[in-house]
Amino acid sequence: MTAEALADLHAACFPLRPWSAGELEALCAEEGAVLERVAQGFALARVTLDEAELLSIAVAPEAQGRGIGRALLGALVTRLAARHVTQLFLEVAEDNAPARALYAQAGFEEVGRRRGYYTRPQAAAVDALVLRRKLRAKSV
Ligand SMILES: CC(C)(COP(=O)(O)OP(=O)(O)OC[C@H]1O[C@@H](n2cnc3c(N)ncnc32)[C@H](O)[C@@H]1OP(=O)(O)O)[C@@H](O)C(=O)NCCC(=O)NCCS
Repeated sequence: MTAEALADLHAACFPLRPWSAGELEALCAEEGAVLERVAQGFALARVTLDEAELLSIAVAPEAQGRGIGRALLGALVTRLAARHVTQLFLEVAEDNAPARALYAQAGFEEVGRRRGYYTRPQAAAVDALVLRRKLRAKSV
């Protein structure tokens, strides 16, 4: 998948704050970047020492609800655990019910809140919840 295809997917999923192909290319090229992708979606994380942050996960709107997001997150977690990452963090808008359900099912727990983090035109700002999942390092 090219950076342009990633950007198209991201824009379809996050119309209020799309990332450009250039931004995505730069993020993917960063040291510690881990990208899991399939034709209809991707998950991108950044590893720093033994911690990682989920920067984005997106499934094309027409392909949502078919288990792709869960599969992407599972594959990403497996790769991170193999790299001895012990904790995966992410931020999610409090009103993003599908994503919150996905993360709850995947074993994430709330560890913080950023008040009014997501600003939206002509609407009240929404809190970001900081979630964490502890990972078990894969023994080889
Ligand atoms: C969040 C997202 C990645 C989920 O991907 P998906 O492929 O649709 O999700 P899956 O089909 O794998 O579903 C996995 C679980 O997520 C939850 N879920 C997914 N869609 C849901 C919906 N519309 N409503 C409620 N829960 C939902 C469910 O718990 C589901 O498990 P179940 O099928 O056993 O009920 C996708 O909706 C998306 O790209 N959203 C836009 C971008 C976004 O908000 N990303 C997260 C930013 S933090």
